[in-house]
Amino acid sequence: MTDLEFPQGFTWGAATAAFQIEGAWDQDGKGESIWDRFNHQPYRILNGDTADIACDHYHHMPEDVALMQDLGIQSYRFSISWPRILPGGTGKIETRGLDFYDRLVDRLLAAGITPMATLNHWDFPQALQARGGWPNRDSVEWFTNYAQVVFEKLADRVPLWATHNEPFVVALSGYADGQFAPGIASFPQALRACHHLLLAHGRTVELYRQLGYDGQIGIVLNLATFLPKTDQPQDIAAAHRIEMLINGLFLDPIFRQQYPPALVEWIGEMWPEFEGDDMHVISQPIDFLGINFYFGQIVRYSPNGLLKLRSEQQIDPGWGMTDKGWGVCPSQLTALLKHIKEAYTDIPLYITENGLSVNTPADQNGVINDQARINYLRAHFQAAHQAITEGVDLRGYYVWSLMDNFEWAEGYSLRFGLIDVDFSDPNRKRTPKASFHWYRDVIKKNKICT
Ligand code: FCB
Repeated sequence: MTDLEFPQGFTWGAATAAFQIEGAWDQDGKGESIWDRFNHQPYRILNGDTADIACDHYHHMPEDVALMQDLGIQSYRFSISWPRILPGGTGKIETRGLDFYDRLVDRLLAAGITPMATLNHWDFPQALQARGGWPNRDSVEWFTNYAQVVFEKLADRVPLWATHNEPFVVALSGYADGQFAPGIASFPQALRACHHLLLAHGRTVELYRQLGYDGQIGIVLNLATFLPKTDQPQDIAAAHRIEMLINGLFLDPIFRQQYPPALVEWIGEMWPEFEGDDMHVISQPIDFLGINFYFGQIVRYSPNGLLKLRSEQQIDPGWGMTDKGWGVCPSQLTALLKHIKEAYTDIPLYITENGLSVNTPADQNGVINDQARINYLRAHFQAAHQAITEGVDLRGYYVWSLMDNFEWAEGYSLRFGLIDVDFSDPNRKRTPKASFHWYRDVIKKNKICT
């Protein structure tokens, strides 16, 4: 057995998102979000689940912060619900909504937990969707106005900010394949949404600097590795195309001031025209990059589809598939982190999400012994440690997720939490799982035992 120690000051955390945990979807003046609208439509969500109550974190917040303190996390990554603060998306501020986050931040700080706040974790105001949503260029101004309201209330105490969570998913799952809110299937609209998300990111970074806060601001991207199935040029080119669609679509504009040339060329005329200064704004220097890592893919050429490829999940020897249908491949976390450093940037990196969906029933004593999650996390922590050893400036790791929650189109069927939530109980009883206790020990010792 070997002990792997993490650098001093390494930040251990856990993450959640407003829509997935808060509930109280129409309380205290909150406006409707596109996810409220979407999850109230038939056939959108597995089993017809809704997030109307979810974990009811809105009413259990003090108890949840106490659990975080017990877990010993040094930082908590949460998101802010835009329509809870601006019910119409712009204009009138709902102070009850803003006060909720104000209280959350104060409680976190009192518990010695550093808040990391994400401005956009997908729950866009429905009122602004009615005005065209992200494909409308006005969304850039709507978002920066919202960001300013939030900064003015919280940025004196919140030192870590992320503009968007996984803008790829917002644009592509929301507007290209329509699996997520707002449920639109139009690739040109998805590309416009993507550009405006990027521009809104850049303008918000500029605003944050202008307002003079001394915290850090970055963005959170879902990144993966893409290996060609063979060394045939067609497979190599196919792997590059999907890598550019998923990773490059955001990394290239932010760190190279341009969209990936191979992708632009492939997509051709459908690529929208943009204004001259946009790339300059988008590529504003950021303080950190947040990476959500869940899988790697193996890719080969196929004559079908826009990108002409097929991909399968990569699985490391000895591992399998998760309940979510993602292959487990910790080796690719090391590879990805090294690749980001070599190909894109030297700025500090955080793993802002990583975790396992596994549904472990309680035993007769009520204990949830989720050994599979412990094994998964240990292997991924080890992979992260390896990257640090090889020179990657990884500053912290946020486990997804603090607690079981509403997993978007899959509702409550998937369980990602370190804490079990009983969704059949009106009080949403929380029960820490074995992985919670294991993680607490990792944090305390700042090392893993492999
Ligand atoms: C990520 C999302 C997060 C959660 C995990 C499982 O894509 O950012 O909200 O759903 O996947």
